[in-house]
This record gives sequence, structure tokens and C-alpha cells, in this order.
Amino acid sequence: MKLIFEKSKSGRRASSIPKPDLPVPGLPDELRRRRPPRLPELAEPEIVRHFTALADRTFGVDTGFYPLGSCTMKHNPRVNERVVALPGFRDLHPLQEEEGSQGALELMWRLQEILAEVCGLHAVSLQPAAGSQGELTGLMLMRAYFADRGEGEQRNNVITADTAHGTNPASVTMAGYQLQKVGTDARGNLDLDDLRAKVNEETAGLMLTNPSTLGLFDEHIEEVASIFHDAGALLYYDGANLNAVCGISRPGDMGFDIVHINLHKTFSQPHGGGGPGGGPVVVRDILEPFLPVPAVVRDAERFHLDYDRPKSIGKVRGYCGPFGVFVRSYAFIRSYGPALRQMSEAAVLNANYMLARLRDVYELPFDRLCMHEFVLSARTLRREHGITALDVAKRLMDYGFHPPTIYFPLIVPEALMIEPTETEAMETLDAFSDAMLEIARDAAENPGLLKEAPHHRPVRRLDEVKAAKRGIVRYRFDDHPDLTGEPAEGEAIEAQKGA
Ligand SMILES: Cc1ncc(COP(=O)(O)O)c(C=O)c1O
Repeated sequence: MKLIFEKSKSGRRASSIPKPDLPVPGLPDELRRRRPPRLPELAEPEIVRHFTALADRTFGVDTGFYPLGSCTMKHNPRVNERVVALPGFRDLHPLQEEEGSQGALELMWRLQEILAEVCGLHAVSLQPAAGSQGELTGLMLMRAYFADRGEGEQRNNVITADTAHGTNPASVTMAGYQLQKVGTDARGNLDLDDLRAKVNEETAGLMLTNPSTLGLFDEHIEEVASIFHDAGALLYYDGANLNAVCGISRPGDMGFDIVHINLHKTFSQPHGGGGPGGGPVVVRDILEPFLPVPAVVRDAERFHLDYDRPKSIGKVRGYCGPFGVFVRSYAFIRSYGPALRQMSEAAVLNANYMLARLRDVYELPFDRLCMHEFVLSARTLRREHGITALDVAKRLMDYGFHPPTIYFPLIVPEALMIEPTETEAMETLDAFSDAMLEIARDAAENPGLLKEAPHHRPVRRLDEVKAAKRGIVRYRFDDHPDLTGEPAEGEAIEAQKGA
């Protein structure tokens, strides 16, 4: 497919706007362009076709099954889009005074109340814009809490699991803590002996997702909580996997003190390709004074933004956070009402159904029932037929499926991490399972087919290392360097014509 610049014809226009009969304001000479910007010049139908063709090549939850483990790529109900586009929400200015924004403040306050209830904790800040920002905010709260108790200098370590999502160690480091990793035992739980050896008076806290990224609920979570609380430390719950437990178990009841929620996953939100996210933090009462400002509070029948929080860590995002995400999440939660538990039950059932269909053919590293996702290994295929998790993933694309997460969590060799979510029909789960089984048969009988996959997608197998290290992000019109060879030291990489 040609780039839009290659389709460009000098002087062609999509539309013509009448020139206004207005004086042209004077501009300082040094700010004037020497020549017009070099933009693609096309007629409107060509522009429409160009972008439609690009959109047709894109894959998303609206085009097919997207079982990307840990990402919760579920259907986004369209009614949420209708609600968020209501003029009262859509046209509201973030600096609108409280009197004129009571409806928006009430929605945020109600969402906070629901999230506190879902987590079994006390207070909420909706501000963080993603799970990872929620993590950093939560750790800043931890830091502020210990500083306030005079233990800030002493408590320097935060422990994460060796199955942790990459954002966990990154957030720990960004928050200025020393990272300590704890191992996983033979059943996929935190290794308690390893944990006991690492927790002491220098520990600030644990950062854990439960169920873990293995899709397994930690069978000793209350004991884990006691180990930390007995040492005066706090427990942080990475709520990215909350889809598994809503209305069934609550992080606060498990012993966690700080939680972040990925609104865009659990409560639906178009989030593939970096769409808007929401990562509210939910905390136990002892941490409430440190939450970001402004807090959304209720005073009799009125709602206010409260900035009078002297111990607050301050603001972590503009205004009150990603408001559109709040509206969609609120609409999603209210559409379930008290039956929210059914969402998680269906997610867990779907995952276990697929696990039961696949477990005899792919290796199951931890032989347990799973929660909302499960991790298989292609290790046997690799050993016996030279077929890797990457080959399986690429071949799945030929069947019209988005591949699962692969090579994560890091402790499982040749990992395939599959999360079907609750919004998929049984026919889809069966079609994906059938494809996985056929791929395993092909691994033995026709491995070449898998090594060359995908066969039916717009692009075949890419050199992923080269694609990552030599990203082509700028088009340079006629003066394109030859990209077939290796770049010279420091050479800028530009787009190749027709690339
Ligand atoms: C377990 C886990 N923790 C944290 C995150 C980070 O969330 P976000 O992508 O919203 O920053 C993710 C994201 O997928 C995750 O799966």
C-alpha cells in the first residue's frame, strides 16, 4: 500500500474554503514560514479511501477475538459512547465552576463510592490516567505515609513477585524505592519462605496482583498480608486483574491497603493502541489524608472539590482526571448493578473452559483451575518440533485471531498467556481452541507452515528486532537513504519510499 505522500499530486485539494474578507494580522518576520508546510495534497475521496484502507488493515476487539493476556480486551458497550456524548458531559469545561457542574461531580463521587465498595476500602482518587500512573501514585502515598510516621528514611524496600507486570518494578524504581523480588512456589503462589526472609523493618510494602499474571489466586494471601502488616509494612494491590474477582472477593478484605484499578480494562473502555485509560487509587482510611487534591466530596446534597488537604501528595494529573473514562465506567457498572459479580464469574468460566480444551495438548506449568486468564507453555512443541510460542502466535493470525500475550510472565518458558474475557460467545472460544489444537497438530506434521506464518495477513513475518531498533517514523520525500544496509553510526533513519 502506498503512503499518502506518494499519492499526493501538487495543487490537488479536498475542499476549497472561501477566503474571508478580513485584514491579515501582521506577523514578526522571524516567525513567518519561508515555504508552505509540505502536506499531502489529495482529493477528498482519495483521502477517505486511503484511511479506510488503513482502518481495514487494523485489528481490534470490533474485528475479532483478542485474547491478549493481562490486557482484558473485552467488548466496549456502545451505549457507553452514547452516554459520554451527552452534551452535558461532552461540552463541560474542566474549569466550570462547581455550581454549573454538579452532575459531573455527582457522577465522580458516585463512581468513587462504588469503587471503594468493590475494593472493600475507604477512599478513592480518580486522578491517575492509567494503571501504571496509579502504581506510581500508590507508591507516593506509601512514601508520604511513612514519612508522616517518621519512618521515611528507614523503609526503603518494596517487594514484587517474579511474575510481576513490567510496570511494577518500573514504578517502584521511579518512586525511589529499592526493588526486591520474591519467587513463586510450585503451585504458582508467592514463595512464603523467600518472602519471610526478605520482609523486615526496612520494608515499605508489597506490590502484588491477585490473581497473579499466571491467572492464579494466591492461596496464602491472608498469611502474606500478616507477614507485611506484622513488620509494619503496607500492601499494594495491582488491580489490573480485578476482572477476575469483582463482587466475589475484595482486595481490602484480603489485607491490601492501596489498590489501583484499570478502569479501561475491568469496566470497559476502548484502549487498544493507547486509547484513554483510567487508574484510580483506592485506599484504607489511614492513607486517605495523603490522596491527591482536589478530592471530590459530598456535603449534604451538594458536591465540591476539596483542596484543603494539608498532607496531600498534590496533583498527579490535570483537573480531576480522565472524565470521559469515568462516564463510560460508571455507565458500565450501573448497567450490571448489583449483578457485577456475573461479569467476573463469566470471565473465569470462559477461561477455565478454554483451559480444559487445551491443557492436554499444551503444557500447563501450574496444574490448577485458573481465574480470568491462564498461562500455557509451548515448551514441548519447541523441544519436539522446533515450534516456538512466537510461531504459534503468528499462525493464529492466519485464523483471524489476535495472538495471546507471549513470553510473559517471564518465569514460564515459551509462555502463551490467554485471556478470553466474559464478552465472548462459546462459538468463539471453541473456534480459537480448535485453531490452537490444529496448530499443535501442524507443529508435528507440517512445521514449515508455522515457521513461515502468517500467510494471509497484509504483512508477513517481520524482523521484529530490526523493526524495534530501526523504527522508521519520518518520511523524507525524495532524499531517502537506502535502508537495505546497516545504518552508519548516528545516521538518522528515515522512511523509505514505498516502505
Ligand atoms: C498486571 C498489570 N499491571 C499493570 C498494568 C499497567 O496498566 P496500564 O497499561 O493501564 O498502565 C497492566 C497493563 O496491562 C497489567 O496487566
